[in-house]
Amino acid sequence: MHHIETNPANATKEEKYQSLLPQLKGLISGEDDLIANLANISSALKETFGFFWVGFYLVKEDQLVLGPFQGTVACTRIKFGKGVCGTAWKEKQTIVVPNVDEFPGHIACSSASKSEIVVPILHREEAVGVLDIDSDSLNDFDSTDQYYLKKVVELIAFPG
Ligand code: SME
Repeated sequence: MHHIETNPANATKEEKYQSLLPQLKGLISGEDDLIANLANISSALKETFGFFWVGFYLVKEDQLVLGPFQGTVACTRIKFGKGVCGTAWKEKQTIVVPNVDEFPGHIACSSASKSEIVVPILHREEAVGVLDIDSDSLNDFDSTDQYYLKKVVELIAFPG
């Protein structure tokens, strides 16, 4: 598969996730390279939803380091427990931030980012990275994103 199918203009967010998930599964099933798969997942999410920024940070020793992403240039390293990403890593929990200005310690890579969701990627019960999505609108993420993005990260196979 070389493209993501477009949705009807009136498709709901849930319908878009439901059509995207099996396509992502197909897209990454024939490839075992982690970086290639994270790159395509970032692209597919950005293309489907038009999010401002979509990308991955991967745990390397005691920091999160920027991985494949789609969007503007971003911070390269985040410490354990810092910002939304470092907090999701520490707590191994998805964090939905309706207004980034109200999240203590939020790391602003871009002033255009207004709301954010960060989903930890778990491998053998350890957090090995996070999926970070930023929106340029307030309140852009809800339990539907939380539910389906967890399924998206569960598709990712980590080596080791
Ligand atoms: N805002 C994130 C940092 C990463 S950028 O949004 C791409 C945070 O607070 O962890």
